[in-house]
Amino acid sequence: MLADNLKVLLASTEVFSLKSRNFHWNIEGSDFPQYHAFYGDLYSETYKTVDTIAEYIRVLDSYTPGSLSRYAELTVIQDQTKVPRAELMFTETYQDTMKMIELTMSLFDVATQEKQQGIANYMAELQDLYGKKAWMIRSILKKGRE
Ligand SMILES: [Fe+2]
Repeated sequence: MLADNLKVLLASTEVFSLKSRNFHWNIEGSDFPQYHAFYGDLYSETYKTVDTIAEYIRVLDSYTPGSLSRYAELTVIQDQTKVPRAELMFTETYQDTMKMIELTMSLFDVATQEKQQGIANYMAELQDLYGKKAWMIRSILKKGRE
């Protein structure tokens, strides 16, 4: 059901965004200014999508989860309580970004089946957003081309 799937996306986006903010604050290394800025953008751009996703759940006449314990139950993105090295942060964020892409792709299909074209359209936008971030992280992690 589309609303239930959107709840998983909502919780996962909250955790993804929170984790990006954590890395924005705690990342270290000689490229600190760029890394700090990258995670700042990642945090704010993904956080902006939370309200839209939540309101689509209400449009579908279901209640929107809004508590930390519900998010912890629903999310497919795992929380990070430690402070990994910069390269490990990017590797982890890359894996999380790929999970977000998979989620938006499967939600696009469900929304299309249920003829919720506006929601399908928004899922396509989110796939684009995470797809661009995946490209950037791959480029940050790439070795041996300089
Ligand atoms: Fe900041």
